[in-house]
Amino acid sequence: MIFNMAHRGASGHEPENTIGAFERAIELGCDGIETDVQLSKDGIPILIHDETVDRTTTNSGFVKDFTCSELRDMGIPSLEQLMILAKLNHIVLNLELKNGIVLYKELEEKVIDIIKKYRMEQSVILSSFNHQSMVKCKQIEASIMTGLLYIENLVQPEKYCKYVGADALHPHYRTVNKEMVEAAHERCMKVNVYTVNEEEDIQNMVEVGADMIISNYPDRVKKYL
Ligand code: G3P
Ligand code: CA
Repeated sequence: MIFNMAHRGASGHEPENTIGAFERAIELGCDGIETDVQLSKDGIPILIHDETVDRTTTNSGFVKDFTCSELRDMGIPSLEQLMILAKLNHIVLNLELKNGIVLYKELEEKVIDIIKKYRMEQSVILSSFNHQSMVKCKQIEASIMTGLLYIENLVQPEKYCKYVGADALHPHYRTVNKEMVEAAHERCMKVNVYTVNEEEDIQNMVEVGADMIISNYPDRVKKYL
């Protein structure tokens, strides 16, 4: 069964990473929600993609320079808000830890504390382009699944994934083919592809055997499952 993961909520229909986008994704029948996690000035996990608030709010400046309360006033949700929504609606969360351009010292610890507070260890997949961050997550709590995000082709990605100790590959969908998916499955690794929005590409990813499709349009993905 393929997993239907709504990218930044149903961001093809509502403003990305907002409560409205998360609720719409649930209404459209997603299995889970992918979102981006950073830390506010006062160290609280909040959900926004960019390192600055410039593109998605009417304010400007780095996320790390605003308190959680200030960010909430701009319409940016906290991880706890989404965690409550996910628990109530029995959906999975794919939390992408944005620990790259801006480095947040205790992002992994703080996110895992909240996952544990809501007893969502079995309903969360952590992912990141920062693979060291995924190693750290496994050291903190080995039972939570982790996935390695990457853009370009990797040589033998399934071997690399095993070496890093992650549970899944999260490749850009254009790098994925049947052989690569089979090689990952032989090593008991999932292949969770992003960000697949066009119907033709969604169908292709179903055919090559991807385990999860991360899409701005969970309604489109649903048609192929
Ligand atoms: O998690 C998949 C995808 O969200 C990674 O890229 O830039 O949309 O966060 P980005
Ligand atoms: Ca993301």
